[in-house]
Amino acid sequence: MTFTTPLKRLPWLALFTLLLVLVGVGLLTARPGTALAAEASPPIDSAALAKAVVAMEQLDQMRISLASTLEGRTEEPTIETMKEVCKPVGMRAIAIGKENGWQVRQVASKYRNPDHAPAKAQERQVIDLFSRHPEINGLWEPAVAEQGAGLNYYRRINVEPSCLACHGTKASRPAFIKANYPDDKAFDFKVGDLRGMYAVHLPEIQAALAVAAG
Ligand code: HEC
Repeated sequence: MTFTTPLKRLPWLALFTLLLVLVGVGLLTARPGTALAAEASPPIDSAALAKAVVAMEQLDQMRISLASTLEGRTEEPTIETMKEVCKPVGMRAIAIGKENGWQVRQVASKYRNPDHAPAKAQERQVIDLFSRHPEINGLWEPAVAEQGAGLNYYRRINVEPSCLACHGTKASRPAFIKANYPDDKAFDFKVGDLRGMYAVHLPEIQAALAVAAG
């Protein structure tokens, strides 16, 4: 009789083990499920948000390093040297938008290229905020109704000493600027002034997929 007791216990042990396994499987399957649901709930994944911030830092650095190549030059910038500064920055902004499915613009109240005039109430409000708060470098806003679902990232652009060759006093602007931008407003800046901002619209992923699917 003594040896039957362990044998009798066996089915219970087996059942208990099976229960443990089932609970374990349940936990394993439930965990990734909840994690996936939590990851899927934000409209835009955090990697895209970080990528937009980094892309605008790199774009701004591109302009600063291009403008610094003009420093120390005694000759007046020409249409050729202009091609080396703000025009390629504008083209790169558009290319970054195309590569990532975002819309990237430069916006300025005192603009040189009229395409860069503020186009929305939100853009005007953020420019106003940046001009009143020099300590704010960038910020996120929900997309406005006409853009559909998504987020907007704004990043300030400050005036550096190297910008004054073309954005300094009205009279000192290079001749090609006076000739090519008759409605130019982008002069009379001082070092440290707010020059404008980069505006990035990231559409909500689900909305973007729906548009792509037609
Ligand atoms: C060689 C001349 C030149 C220099 C130097 C220069 N810019 Fe520009 N900038 C221009 C021209 C020309 C445009 C208009 C480009 C276009 O048609 O898109 C412009 C446009 C811009 C714009 C887009 C908004 C607008 O007004 O159309 C910003 C922002 C800007 N410049 C900022 C800067 C900053 C900041 C610096 C210094 C780091 C700088 N620029 C240096 C010539 C220059």
